[in-house]
Amino acid sequence: MNKEMHTLLNESDIEELEGNQYSLRPQSLEEFIGQEQIKEQLRIHIEAAKSRNQSLSHILFVGPPGLGKTTLARIVANEMGSSFKSAVGPAMERLDLASILTGLEEHEIFFIDEIHRMKGHVQESMYPAMEDYKIDLPIGQGPAADIITVPLAHFTLVGATTREGLLGGPFRDRFGNRIHLDYYAPEEIQIAINRLSQKMQPPVKIDEEAEYELARRSRGTMRIAENMLRKVRDYATVKSDGVITYEIAQEALEFFQIDELGLDDNDRLYLRTMIENFRGRAGLKAMAVAVSEDERTIEEVYEPFLIKLGFLTLTPMGRVATDAAYQHLGYPVPEYQTTLF
Ligand code: ADE
Repeated sequence: MNKEMHTLLNESDIEELEGNQYSLRPQSLEEFIGQEQIKEQLRIHIEAAKSRNQSLSHILFVGPPGLGKTTLARIVANEMGSSFKSAVGPAMERLDLASILTGLEEHEIFFIDEIHRMKGHVQESMYPAMEDYKIDLPIGQGPAADIITVPLAHFTLVGATTREGLLGGPFRDRFGNRIHLDYYAPEEIQIAINRLSQKMQPPVKIDEEAEYELARRSRGTMRIAENMLRKVRDYATVKSDGVITYEIAQEALEFFQIDELGLDDNDRLYLRTMIENFRGRAGLKAMAVAVSEDERTIEEVYEPFLIKLGFLTLTPMGRVATDAAYQHLGYPVPEYQTTLF
């Protein structure tokens, strides 16, 4: 289902439409693996808000895709005992926003994904809602229109973004808590794979070494691990007896062309193109055209992990593939590269 259509749906509608994927996700902070400091911080804010019977202050979750921003937002609602509504930033117009805001209940969690892609004037209309729990609505049209101020319930806005820098400064500053999520350690992902394999229907049999192998190649990202487990399960079902042994896991990952570090075809194409077409240094636009991908996907999906691996650096002169990238892909490291960086 197209995510943009979530704008005006509530949680149970979405679960129905998506085949109950959410029941596989952790429902409480206790079940959520890793991000220890963040969980502690959330626990404190939630407990304090509940003890004062107040709404939680607005939260902005920042980090690359697939680390659990949406999952955490739902958990915050569960832990608060509040209801949950979600919307997607780019799809939202001022009137959509006004109709959602005026329908919110006390302490409700209103989650907006990709909040950095919300239009500027829509962001601006959030300011009084976030600060004073009220919203100005035009009555009638044109210059004769009147403005009425409508009071809102004390809700909590939870935003998720891959690009904090693209949020307007005044908007960003209105979030009391800005929380940065980081990539997971393989040991943390392994625990999640183990739990997920038991929760799936029918449960998946997987060896401990195979769990670790999938975890190690999941680019520090829970969502990638989940998808990988499903793909490898299919492979094991068709090519073997359904049990994911270490050997089957390795065979499957080779078949799906996921390499030792978890890089897939897209990542390798990106690095190869930079090295072969641009001698290891290129601007974003040139790369987008060369690999037929939009600039945003490159910046938000491909590059963060390549940077974390140390395969890519961003410089004022463009993107630069590092020596490590050349070595990983089997290219000789160029002389100038070593001396320049
Ligand atoms: N699913 C997505 N993120 C998760 C996490 N951090 N722990 C457990 N399951 C998850």
